[in-house]
Formats: sequence, C-alpha cells, structure tokens
Amino acid sequence: MFDVESVRKDFPMLNGKTMHGKPLIYIDNGATTLKPQCVIDTVCDYLTNYSGNAHRGDYDLSHEVDTKYEHVRDIVANFIHCDRNEVVYTYGSSDSLNLVAFGYGMTHLQKDDEVLITLAEHASNTLPWFEVCQATGSVVKYIDLDTEGKLTLDNVKKAITDKTKIISIAQVTNVIGHLAPIKEICQYAHEKGIIVVVDGAQSVPHRPVDVKDLDVDFLAFSAHKMCGPTGVGVLYGKYELLQETKPTRFGGGSNARYNSCGLIKLKNAPTKFETGTPNIEGVIGMGAAIEYLQNIGMDNITKYEEQLRAYAIKKMKALDNIEIYNENGIGPIAFNIKGVFSQDAASLFNTHGIAVRAGQHCAKILDEYLHVSQTLRASFYFYNTFEEIDAFIEACQKGDDFLDAFFG
Ligand SMILES: Cc1ncc(COP(=O)(O)O)c(C=O)c1O
Repeated sequence: MFDVESVRKDFPMLNGKTMHGKPLIYIDNGATTLKPQCVIDTVCDYLTNYSGNAHRGDYDLSHEVDTKYEHVRDIVANFIHCDRNEVVYTYGSSDSLNLVAFGYGMTHLQKDDEVLITLAEHASNTLPWFEVCQATGSVVKYIDLDTEGKLTLDNVKKAITDKTKIISIAQVTNVIGHLAPIKEICQYAHEKGIIVVVDGAQSVPHRPVDVKDLDVDFLAFSAHKMCGPTGVGVLYGKYELLQETKPTRFGGGSNARYNSCGLIKLKNAPTKFETGTPNIEGVIGMGAAIEYLQNIGMDNITKYEEQLRAYAIKKMKALDNIEIYNENGIGPIAFNIKGVFSQDAASLFNTHGIAVRAGQHCAKILDEYLHVSQTLRASFYFYNTFEEIDAFIEACQKGDDFLDAFFG
C-alpha cells in the first residue's frame, strides 16, 4: 500500500488551497481530479522548452515533440494492455464515444437494428446513440438494472434480440457506480456477433483495466479524471474495428493524399482519426499522469478507495438524516440529506470547504430508475483521507441545522 500523506504532498491543491476559508476537501473526483506536480511540470516543460507542432516539421525540435507525443501511445498501450496502434488520442470520453457512435455506428447500423444501453449511462453514452439511431432508423433499447441498480449478465441476455448490434455501457456508472461484468458480457455478446463499447470514464482511473482480458471492442476514457489535463482522452478500439471506423473529422495530418476530384486516401488507424493540431501538451501530460498512477499501483488505488468508501458508508448509515442510493456500489456514493434540496446541501458542504457534486450528474434519465430527481455525489480518489471523511460526516450531521436555518 502507498503512504497517503506522502502522496498528498504531490498535489499543490492539497497543500494550502482553501475554499470558503477552510482547507479544501475535494470529493468531487467523479467530475475531475486534482493534478500532481509531475503532470503540471511535464505540461510546463513542453510549453516552456519544446513547444513545436507534432508530425509537421523536419527539424530537431519537431522530432523531439513527435518522440514525446508518440511515446504516450506506448504508455497508454501498456496501461490498458493493447497495441500502440489501437490507441486513438481524443478530446476525452465524450469525444471518444461520439467517434464510435458516428464513425462506427453510423456506417454499421441499419433500419430496425438495436443498440442496448442502460438508464444509468452518462449523457455522453446516450445522446450520440439517440442521434445515430435516428439517422439510421435503428433503435436505442434499455437493459434493465436490478433492484440495486446493477447491470447483470442475465438482464443483458434478456435484452438481446436478433436485432441487437451494439451494446454500449459504462464499466462503472457515474452516479450509482456499480462494476458491470464486462468480461462476461463481451463473451456472450461476441457469440452473437454483437460489438461491446465500454465507457471507462469512471473505471479506468480507479482500477486496472485490461482490454485484452475483458475482450472489449471499444473503450473510452478521459485523462482529467485520472490526474491528467482536461480536453484529452483515449479511444481504444480493436485494430480491425478501428480500420472499419470512419473518421468524423477530416483535414491535415490524417490523409495520405487527395486530389481535386475529392478522392481521399486516408492514413491507417489511429492517425486517420487525429486530424489537425492535437492537444499536444494534454497528451504529454496524460502520459505523465498514467505513469504517476502506475507508480502508485492501480491495485493499491482500488483497494484504498474501497476502504475509504466502506468507511464513509458505515458512518453515513449511522446518521438518520442521510438517504444513500447505492450502498453496495464501488464508485461514487449517491445520497441526499433528507428533506434538503441537493444543491442547497452542496452549498452547505461548501461552507465547510467540502466540494461535492449535486444535481443530475449528466445522467438525466437515471431518475426514471431511481425515482429521485437530484442527488448529492461524493466521489473519492486515492489522495482522500479518513480524516476528510470524518469532516464530511460532520457536515452531513449539520444538514439538520441547515434545514433550521433555511426554514427558521
Ligand atoms: C461515466 C461517464 N462517461 C462519460 C463522461 C464524459 O467525460 P468527459 O467530460 O471527460 O468527456 C463522464 C464525465 O463525467 C462520465 O462520468
């Protein structure tokens, strides 16, 4: 296991940053994470010392950029266990999922085909499919969640029909946060010729993910949810599927040649998807973030976060003013202070220096399952401490005082 106190020293925002006059307690890691100094330094180093373009120049500076930029593909490939040419740099999970929906779904779905998702998906794994299904005449259908909000293989089997072509699901959803049995789902789906797209935005930052072992067809994740910069992420795809996927953006860098008649010869994957000047500092920063996480150890991160979550759940359950919606989940804790509107409660936490998320968390059809329109969400990362959870629990207890202040 790692030493959390020494890890916290790596994060400038955990050393002196205050909110509402109190030391910051950041438990909104599902939204984005804090950045360690090594990531900040790596980005600054690029901007300060070698900020040329990638894949453009024939001079040493350009070569330096290309080497560092392309090396990150190896880092990612090692991190999720794939080949380097199966790593597409994108602008984040939303961009990755849009690329699969519009680049693969648009060309492979036909009228009446079915795409399976769940009610717990993030908007980024819902809206692109709505659009693509509308354009192709195919249909979005929902896999039932069980009584705890879990996605089970049995329910996947029940939802599959002869028309199912794609299943697109989060490995861990961003509100109710259960771990989906991805390996079993892939195995079953592949027997039926169905492609499985996995939204890894909330899983890849927190646990080891091996795409070869899981046998997923596509996997999307974002750097900023795992200590990296914003506006950069990855789409993993099996190489033959990436080759079948049409780019959704065209321009410089992604083509081998074209002529005035409009004939375009694209480069192979992944280059054909990466048109235009990319987020170079973002990609290089993402590489530093992944190496940082690997040094701590993904297994260690998972284990420590499980302990944090179990501790928080135990303490929250002891309070009678708290309603928890996903006691047995593994990711974020979705809850409410009874009788308090979630955004008002988030303001209360703010007065204690605690950052939690309130609202619908971009999962706007989840209320059709949860039957509650808004929740609070506490999401931890490996730099959070048990002491921070104690402070959070103390603030939860004050929810009642807040009600008095509100209505008094
Ligand atoms: C499960 C899930 N999918 C997709 C996304 C979108 O990620 P990004 O905003 O980095 O594109 C998020 C972000 O919160 C998420 O939690």
